[in-house]
Amino acid sequence: MIELKLTECLRIKSRIGPQDKDIKGIAYDSRRVKKDFLFVAVRGLSVDGHDYIDDAISRGASAVVAEHAVELKRARKLAGQDEITVIEVSDSREALALISASFYGHPSKSLSLIGITGTNGKTTTSYITKSIIEAGGKTSGLLGTICYMTGSGITNAFNTTPESMDLQRYLSEMVNNQMDYAVIEVSSHALSLKRVEGCSFRTAAFTNFTHDHLDFHGTMDEYYRAKRRLFKYLSKDGSAVLNTDDPMIRPLAQKLNCNVITCGIEEGAMIRAENIRESGVRGAGFSMSFDVRTPEGRFEINSSLIGRFNVYNILMSIGIAYSLGVKENIIRDGIKHAKPVDGRFENIDEGQDYLCIVDYAHTEDALRKLIEEARFITEKRVITVFGCGGDRDRTKRPVMGGVATELSDLAVITSDNPRSEEPSEIIMDILRGVKKNNYTVQPVRDEAIREAISMAKEGDTVLIAGKGHENYQEVNGVRHHFSDKEIAREAINKRLKGHMPRNTKG
Ligand SMILES: Nc1ncnc2c1ncn2[C@@H]1O[C@H](COP(=O)(O)OP(=O)(O)OP(=O)(O)O)[C@@H](O)[C@H]1O
Ligand SMILES: [Mg+2]
Repeated sequence: MIELKLTECLRIKSRIGPQDKDIKGIAYDSRRVKKDFLFVAVRGLSVDGHDYIDDAISRGASAVVAEHAVELKRARKLAGQDEITVIEVSDSREALALISASFYGHPSKSLSLIGITGTNGKTTTSYITKSIIEAGGKTSGLLGTICYMTGSGITNAFNTTPESMDLQRYLSEMVNNQMDYAVIEVSSHALSLKRVEGCSFRTAAFTNFTHDHLDFHGTMDEYYRAKRRLFKYLSKDGSAVLNTDDPMIRPLAQKLNCNVITCGIEEGAMIRAENIRESGVRGAGFSMSFDVRTPEGRFEINSSLIGRFNVYNILMSIGIAYSLGVKENIIRDGIKHAKPVDGRFENIDEGQDYLCIVDYAHTEDALRKLIEEARFITEKRVITVFGCGGDRDRTKRPVMGGVATELSDLAVITSDNPRSEEPSEIIMDILRGVKKNNYTVQPVRDEAIREAISMAKEGDTVLIAGKGHENYQEVNGVRHHFSDKEIAREAINKRLKGHMPRNTKG
């Protein structure tokens, strides 16, 4: 049993019952409550934990933290158990995070915690950073969009940044597994929902800031404020790593009151990429090299990642490594050995005479950069398959429609994860922004991929954007097995074997 000094870690509005109490565990889902657990009632987007206080008590909760004293008192009375502690707080999400940090022994203080935020590039930057750390003979856990690695196996990720209690538990698992570092992606949702409250970051990086998530944040200002909050959790001697080529991030270099490392391609950045050389041509394999200038000198980087956006991701990782005092030769090694990330500019090569790239671009900026990159390495046409997610930011749909049709030779507009929305309505939103009559509409995603592949000619590139590593498609709240990569591979092979004729329309 762990004695939890609730009074030490919470801003309490009112309380009843014993205060410093031994609890066996914490839960914010009443179904996970066991005997002598603390239940924290959190208001979620679809359910409100306050409605489950009775249930939590009936399952054995010995303490409850919530935002509404009335419900707490009622629950306690109903339970007829005077020994149940009830605590009213003004923000139960913050309380959940702080209690969890305390319950798990403040793991972020026992390892070096690195947080990465930004609209795009978080996952990629986190993998490169982990590779650099490991090149130096150190160990690192990782939490992000694709999976969680704590040193005891790999778990599929549910949220890019886990809920605070789970986050603290994963960090404590890393500490138990003697990890030196933890690299975590910190989403704007996580920052708004106080998931990293109670964490102490040694380094916090901000990759870029462009349009996304306005369904949740409402305005770009709010979205920005959420991202900026990451720096609030820096430890006293912590460092901020900033992409100062991004005009929204540049001013932070002056505003933040901590050690700042600036990265960019443009003049003035402390860690600067120069002389970028890319080879992404068919048959030659993908690779890239460039020179990096740091305040200490200059060295050459070689990477199997390609694309200008990956130059930024690599620079951010170098900035992070630099903040940790990692030596240049280790940085070079780590970058050289960093493998392309699952579903990020992934080349589906079955020996066909056109390129097929699967990528996770699902924002306007990512889609723009992806198509521009494809254009750079493509001899002939770029054919882009894409859609937009349901129940998410609607304002980006026409903008993505504009970008895809403007920059591609041909766009096949389809569904992403429609979730609870009608696919045809999402597509209507996309069509509002199309710039040219160079598109077809095929709402069934696997059909759309097949259609694009059937149209490809020698020297073309088929880009399949939006779902990257995902192995499901969510329709009406149900996740069905679905993999862009599997479908693309199958279609390419069918064509190679002559089982699928080339579509002469395209
Ligand atoms: N630095 C970058 N700038 C702009 N676009 C990028 C950058 N890095 C990656 N991308 C694009 O964004 C997509 C997602 O990349 P990545 O998964 O690394 O970002 P993320 O920030 O983790 O995204 P998410 O918010 O979905 O977790 C990539 O497939 C690519 O198209
Ligand atoms: Mg991510």
